[in-house]
Amino acid sequence: QKGGYKHFMLKEIFEQPRVVADCIAGRADAVHGVRLPELDGLAAPKRLHIVACGTSYHAGLWGMGLIESWARIPVRVEIASEFRYRDLILDKDDVVLAISQSGETADTLAGMRRAREMGATVIGLCNVVGSTVSREADHVIYTQAGPEISVASTKAMCSQLTLLLLLALHWGRQKGTLPADAQASAVRGLVGLPSVLEAELPRMREVAQSLSRKYSSARSFMYLGRGVQFPLALEGALKLKEISYIHAEGYASGEMKHGPIALIDPEFPTFALALHDDLFPKVKSNLEEVQARDGRIVAITHPGLELPVDDAWVIPEVWGPLNSFLVLPCLQLFAYEVADYLGKDVDQPRNLAKSVTVE
Ligand code: M6R
Repeated sequence: QKGGYKHFMLKEIFEQPRVVADCIAGRADAVHGVRLPELDGLAAPKRLHIVACGTSYHAGLWGMGLIESWARIPVRVEIASEFRYRDLILDKDDVVLAISQSGETADTLAGMRRAREMGATVIGLCNVVGSTVSREADHVIYTQAGPEISVASTKAMCSQLTLLLLLALHWGRQKGTLPADAQASAVRGLVGLPSVLEAELPRMREVAQSLSRKYSSARSFMYLGRGVQFPLALEGALKLKEISYIHAEGYASGEMKHGPIALIDPEFPTFALALHDDLFPKVKSNLEEVQARDGRIVAITHPGLELPVDDAWVIPEVWGPLNSFLVLPCLQLFAYEVADYLGKDVDQPRNLAKSVTVE
């Protein structure tokens, strides 16, 4: 069942090229652009509330930036266990997007039920066909990632990012707010992404393996990112802590100086996302501050960028937000290799269940 891989997690990470291809099949191509028949008859929302937990919540945070920028829809992203108990302000003009791989997460379900009671429309973005989220939502978009067995979610997030990007394009086109080149560039990039991922994954694993030997003795890790990469920093930290049991915190790079930088010393490494985008100079200066405190730094970065780091993990550059699809497997593989090197039970980490059906 593991298809020759040592763990389901590794197999599922390596399935991501296929996952992207399956997500876009019938939904996006160069000739027709983007089509989401699941949303036929639904106007672009006035306000969008994304509700989710864990990795699905991180995917939602990532989608927020694209939906705001391409579709000019105000978006709030909410942790479902908080959303369900708040004194919510929702009405029939609001759309709630419930993101859940399993479609059975208790808090996400409770959040979407409250939203429906208040008259909002609920879209379910889930992976498991026939799950409770898919049955109770007004509209369902399936992520089609296939069964995810490992407790640590990997390919499901990749599929969620793909669908969130398609949603941003769909609503942006519906509203006429989509920047002229965005659809063509995004679709072209998405269509080419599976082959880029396929070619890169083996090399990413080698780098992750060698870095894991160097950093697995750390007791704590700081993950930093800005802009579209900030949610990826949160996800990298979550992956590391849940399967290797190493304490990790994900932060927006600019927040470092507001407290967390006090933690930095030679024993507390930083994993930075420092890619070629508008915010690179800011990220670089944040990393200079870490270096000045003798903090060791691993950075995922792009060719030709100069950075004050101990280990530069250079990945190929693709179009705009699609770079996150290459960052994600690096973070997953790093966590995987550290956990495996430390002899942890990668697929069944302690204290965790695949689907959290209780509060
Ligand atoms: O099935 P869901 O997407 O609703 O699950 C949400 C979280 O429980 C899940 O993402 C969890 O955080 C994973 N263990 C992360 O790897």
